[in-house]
Amino acid sequence: MSAAISARPLARLADLEATAARGVRLPDGRDILLVRVHGRVSAFENRCPHLGVPLEAEPDRFLEAGGELIQCAMHGALFLPEDGECVFGPCQGARLREIPVSVAGDGRIHLADE
Ligand code: FES
Repeated sequence: MSAAISARPLARLADLEATAARGVRLPDGRDILLVRVHGRVSAFENRCPHLGVPLEAEPDRFLEAGGELIQCAMHGALFLPEDGECVFGPCQGARLREIPVSVAGDGRIHLADE
């Protein structure tokens, strides 16, 4: 489940704790997740490469308990927040589709091509 955001920016850096993730719906209807792990922000389509389903079972619950990896709630696949590579689970070696984002000086997170 994602918050509908019709205007840019996608979010503010302050919306994400030092280690946190949240779902966002892009104006074109795609659901993505924003992830901030150790201060680095990345974004991916919210679609598991195993079966093509959304990753989370509860809103904004994208990270495994340790907060270091993205986890698919369906079968437990684990993905690196740096590049979306699946490092454990039924789709090991596959990747989440990355959505390029940038963080402006004021902390607003935007799609990188905007
Ligand atoms: S659907 Fe994500 S691990 Fe199976």
